[in-house]
Amino acid sequence: MNASANGRDPRENPWGEGHEIAPRRVSFDWRETPLHWIPDEPTATHVINVLHLLLPAGERWFVKVFKEALPLVDDPVLLKDVKGFMGQEATHSVQHAYVLNHLAEQRLDTGPYTRHVDYLFEILLGERPPFGVPWPQREWLRFRLAIVAAIEQFTAVLGDWVLSADALDRAGADEVMLDLLRWHGAEEVEHRSVAFDMYQHCGGPDPVRYARRLETMAVTAPVMLWLWGWGAAYLIRHDPQLAGRPRYSLREHNRAVAKGLLPTWRELGSAVPRYFRRSYHPSQEGSLRRAVDYLATSPAARAAAGAVGRAALG
Ligand SMILES: [Fe+2]
Ligand SMILES: [Fe+2]
Repeated sequence: MNASANGRDPRENPWGEGHEIAPRRVSFDWRETPLHWIPDEPTATHVINVLHLLLPAGERWFVKVFKEALPLVDDPVLLKDVKGFMGQEATHSVQHAYVLNHLAEQRLDTGPYTRHVDYLFEILLGERPPFGVPWPQREWLRFRLAIVAAIEQFTAVLGDWVLSADALDRAGADEVMLDLLRWHGAEEVEHRSVAFDMYQHCGGPDPVRYARRLETMAVTAPVMLWLWGWGAAYLIRHDPQLAGRPRYSLREHNRAVAKGLLPTWRELGSAVPRYFRRSYHPSQEGSLRRAVDYLATSPAARAAAGAVGRAALG
């Protein structure tokens, strides 16, 4: 399949074409990171912490689904991007899982929540349709590829947001956590088109392919919102430093949004109608330049590149 059939037009996105996607073997030292890594902002801290609950299982699942679909890829350019994407997502998954260990060390056990997330990705969205539903294997794979593309729409939006969320720096957010979020966010912007291109390539003919893109986003957006609210409520309820304090509330959430510590509802919500446009392509999302600039200065990414050790930065 050629580049235009994938929806990639180098004239529209000179930055996207030819930009190599490759994992950076980063590591983070969590020993100094406090539980409330945005000081005095438990709601913003835990709303962002939901990423650590969802991503280890979610991104591991992306890699599995893509591995299943690899034999369907006959475009060498896409294949290269897909392999880079898989390497990046596998690394993200592992690094977020380390944060869960760090939360557990601070007496915040996330197991009862993440077990549900594991069930969602491993059983409900596993290799075979759940409950013996007689869905042809090829269709089931296409459906899951479309779900990955829909989720990646939000990871690109969140990635771009965190790269420019200066309020987090002003609020004194922990530098290691900010680096994790921005390294990850930058790689999300870097590979923002890959899951979409993969879906377009493997998703069969239109109009069914386009209809499936709409349907899966219509399911993915509310499920993600629900998982997020549930996750934030879980973390706040089980936070040992908040014993007896108020639970997760929309009012506190919106207060953090007003301070610029969380993305606005409009930033998140507008990603959906954009994705619904027939001519849509994620190369329009965010700023690849900002992402690449961040990766050039990220302590973890630089250490991974061997440019400079962390000790030298301190
Ligand atoms: Fe990721
Ligand atoms: Fe991603």
